[in-house]
Amino acid sequence: MCGIFGYSGKRQDGGKIVVEGLKNLEYRGYDSWGVACTTKAGITIRKDIGKISTVSSDDFSETCCLALAHTRWATHGGVTPANAHPHLSRDGTVAVVHNGIIENYAELKETLKTKGYTFVSQTDTEVIPYMIEEEMKSGKSFPDAFRNACLQFHGRYAILALHQASGMLIAARTGSPLIVGVGKDGYYIASDIPAFMEHTRTVQYLDDGEIVETDGKKITFRDIATGEERQKREIQITWTVEQAQKGDFAHFMLKEIMDQKESIARAANQDEEEIMTIAQAIRNAKGTFLVGCGTAHKACMAAEYFFSVVSGHHVNVCSAGEFKLYHHFLVPESLLIVVSQSGETADVLEAMNVAKSKGAKVLAIVNVEGSSVARAADYTLRINAGPERAVASTKAMTGQMSVMLLIAYALKNALHDGKTLLLETGALINDMLNPRYVERIATIAGNIKRHEHLYIIGKSWHYPMALESAIKIQEVSYMHAEGFAGSELKHGPIALIEPGTPCIALLGNDEVTSDMLNNATELKARGALLIGIAPKRHEIFDEWLKTPDAGAAQPIVTIIPIQILAYELAVQRGKDPDMPRNLAKSVTVK
Ligand code: AGP
Repeated sequence: MCGIFGYSGKRQDGGKIVVEGLKNLEYRGYDSWGVACTTKAGITIRKDIGKISTVSSDDFSETCCLALAHTRWATHGGVTPANAHPHLSRDGTVAVVHNGIIENYAELKETLKTKGYTFVSQTDTEVIPYMIEEEMKSGKSFPDAFRNACLQFHGRYAILALHQASGMLIAARTGSPLIVGVGKDGYYIASDIPAFMEHTRTVQYLDDGEIVETDGKKITFRDIATGEERQKREIQITWTVEQAQKGDFAHFMLKEIMDQKESIARAANQDEEEIMTIAQAIRNAKGTFLVGCGTAHKACMAAEYFFSVVSGHHVNVCSAGEFKLYHHFLVPESLLIVVSQSGETADVLEAMNVAKSKGAKVLAIVNVEGSSVARAADYTLRINAGPERAVASTKAMTGQMSVMLLIAYALKNALHDGKTLLLETGALINDMLNPRYVERIATIAGNIKRHEHLYIIGKSWHYPMALESAIKIQEVSYMHAEGFAGSELKHGPIALIEPGTPCIALLGNDEVTSDMLNNATELKARGALLIGIAPKRHEIFDEWLKTPDAGAAQPIVTIIPIQILAYELAVQRGKDPDMPRNLAKSVTVK
């Protein structure tokens, strides 16, 4: 997801505002940046490849009350200055930035070429200012021209544009987030709240199919299709700026791992009536489907075991990208539970559309209030993890698992037992996350960081944790890691094991422990360097990372040393754990 930020108002440091604000979105891992400032002389565009963190806002000190900026995560066209946003209209009066994909850009481009437009980039975005310009040439005002151009775009996008002559800032969203910050000195429009949080915490959410336009003094929301005005309530963001900043941690990822001392308790703090309503909806449902992507999908896989082991309830789990194949089974009495930290993941939103097209109800378990997923769902539970800014999902994942574990307890009418377990688990995590433990993990990371391959095995609810362990280690350290069910080793993967291959065995203190020890022994017999993550040491372990015995919450405590190991491997292998290559914090394209 690209970073988008614009300002319009009384302040005259618009360029500085948008540059500094974009830096607060930098954690998403971008490859280029660009800024448009409106001055008496016209619109000044500065853009380049590289990170916005290398750009000084002092270079944008010209008097400017209307500005927009963008950090790009390349989808169409390589990482070049020409492909960076903003893109200008041919007459230089309209500047545009964009997130998402204009699916019909190729045919629009051909039409524009017949009208004499030439293209300087490989992006789909470049058609946007030219389309607006064409509409204005037929006499339409900037707002009308913008809206008519949007009606010709197909796909999921967020577009922000400014017009020098009218001094207006306009945005449209269809599938990609945009939020308005309502300040005392003007309006801020951004793809995420941290961009303007130091200026205001009063927000208004733009919904799909809506446009917002402001001249810096007033703001109007409209329906894209009809142009009719829409009213929006103002919402106060409860996060503090400090919560959204790194504090004295070297990276957001480490801060967010440590946040888990408190975030499990926050996840447990749910409205009891709401949880019981959701439990009843699950009981009544003809088929419950748990759906998410990446790490959130692994949380869903763990929850399948929670529902089975804790409350004897069957649920279906699948990756959101695969859900479309299930539509044959969906009936109005089906229930779809979607799990998403950002609440903006395209595949999750698409799965929701599939379920709703069949009349099924949707429960969203999200971290970001007001996100597209949250606002499209019939029920919403928030994991209350606070802002998760590192690309690698850590506290959000344990928050997701915690909420689903709570629902499993509510299903067997033991909600209080579930809350007690989670609060106790939070305390156990607090004890576990001490400097000595982190140091121990850093040492282990030092011992294995030069290896090319690493394998992780788990059984039962630790099988999803083995898969999640692989995601964590892959995405921040770029080491090849793979997770397997322990029982699957002898059906193929054990051929991969050579003397010294680092292997991690995830165990609890439960009925599958002995099976897992057998599997781990098979690895050891082939010379693996065996790292055990378990409540108890076993003689076959070369290294042992102790975890508390957390009963049905065991996967929640097990994944935490893995998160730290992944972080340490990244740092010791010279990678930036907060901004891993090729990845974005929220995947808003399919
Ligand atoms: C996890 O570390 C990754 N960043 C990724 O797998 C992520 O979990 C996935 O893209 C889903 O994101 P969401 O929770 O915001 O929907």
